[in-house]
Amino acid sequence: MDEILIKGGYPLKGEVRISGAKNAALPMLAATILTGGGFTFENVPALKDVETIGRLLAELGATVASESGIVRIDTAGIDKFEAPYDLVRKMRASVLVLGPLLARLKRARVSLPGGCAIGARPINMHLEGLARLGAAITLEHGYVEASAEKLIGAEIFFDVPTVTGTENLMMAAVLAEGTTVLRNAAREPEIIALAEMLNRMGADIQDAGSPVITIHGVRTLKPVTARIIPDRIEAGTYMVAAALTKGNVRITDADPNHLKPVIHKLREAGAHVHLDGTVIVVKGGGPIRSVDIKTLPYPGFPTDMQAQFMVLMSTAGGLSIISETVFENRFIHVSELRRLGADITISGNHAMIKGVSRLSGAPVMATDLRASASLVLAGLVADNTTRISRIYHLDRGYETIEEKFRGLGARIERVKGESAI
Ligand code: EPU
Repeated sequence: MDEILIKGGYPLKGEVRISGAKNAALPMLAATILTGGGFTFENVPALKDVETIGRLLAELGATVASESGIVRIDTAGIDKFEAPYDLVRKMRASVLVLGPLLARLKRARVSLPGGCAIGARPINMHLEGLARLGAAITLEHGYVEASAEKLIGAEIFFDVPTVTGTENLMMAAVLAEGTTVLRNAAREPEIIALAEMLNRMGADIQDAGSPVITIHGVRTLKPVTARIIPDRIEAGTYMVAAALTKGNVRITDADPNHLKPVIHKLREAGAHVHLDGTVIVVKGGGPIRSVDIKTLPYPGFPTDMQAQFMVLMSTAGGLSIISETVFENRFIHVSELRRLGADITISGNHAMIKGVSRLSGAPVMATDLRASASLVLAGLVADNTTRISRIYHLDRGYETIEEKFRGLGARIERVKGESAI
């Protein structure tokens, strides 16, 4: 199993290009199921999760070809409706095929995702929403079985905003008869990107990006070419890395409008953040100040940036409190950060972080995607060498991460490691 070795202590300098967003690409690729024909996607990140959704589409009968950021999908041959356990257990977002399969084939059989390192992560709101549209839903042998001769528009109220739940329901509703209203919908930029693609396919979706999304069902859709928006979490991760290492990094092809809470908190912590169109320049240097953070659905501070900020706060001048309100168990990186010398105490969904003068390199283990990113960041400032195992998590969501960090002057390499099991 590969490992990452990092020798800390080198300020990051130079330029890094941000890739297309994983969490935008996954629902947009799933949306191709809705109609038969040839789709083209540009700026698609080469990531394990994107590969997994491609394999799933192929399993359903599509042809998928990928080369240098361009993915072509022909969905004319889709005739199967099952997302098998082997793919869903690799990637929970496989559940995104449920809505579009039901809309196109009137049937879907999708393995029920289990819990994961960051929480129980049920999909009850996806299923309740589909039932409101008229689907019959049963759970058999670990699979969700959904069927509906026709879907009929309805009003759906989400208890809490759910990103993939909103996406699944939007995809199911575009071909439903009549009007669907999604209330308390998620407002993430990835939702807007999906809605824009669906509207270009011929759907009629209004107000995506607001808490109330209205979808007037249409009879047919057509294939399109679409470009994946920049990955705001990848950009945020490099921004924190620049501040943490007291570097000077020019981040290109980003969308600063999607990063407002991260920019705000970085500035509050003392970093200089300069915005110029799609370029973000982050300069560190002065002392890092402790700031408090509370994760929230968009436009609040993203839970996917919580672990990375915790590393920054671990090197700050005082005490900071990070409250995680989106996932119930997303502090799994804390015990690994403590191995690197961080002073963090957990109480319920709050982490109290007392800044320390230095982190010290050690072997650590990656546990989920963003936790892994936080360990890389910690390794960049820890003295001596940090060895991170189980880095397959990183490959799910960060394109060529070692190359990008090396390009900024980090001493980081991937080695063939011993099995971590
Ligand atoms: N929830 C329910 N029932 C549901 C759905 C969600 O209780 O039916 C709860 C979840 O357990 C959680 C909260 O609602 O407590 C919000 O979860 P949400 O459904 O929004 O999460 P998701 O759609 O499964 C997406 C991203 C995650 C990101 C979250 C929150 C994708 C493919 N995944 O997950 O990304 O953390 O939204 O912003 O878009 C990552 O990229 O590392 C990642 C985990």
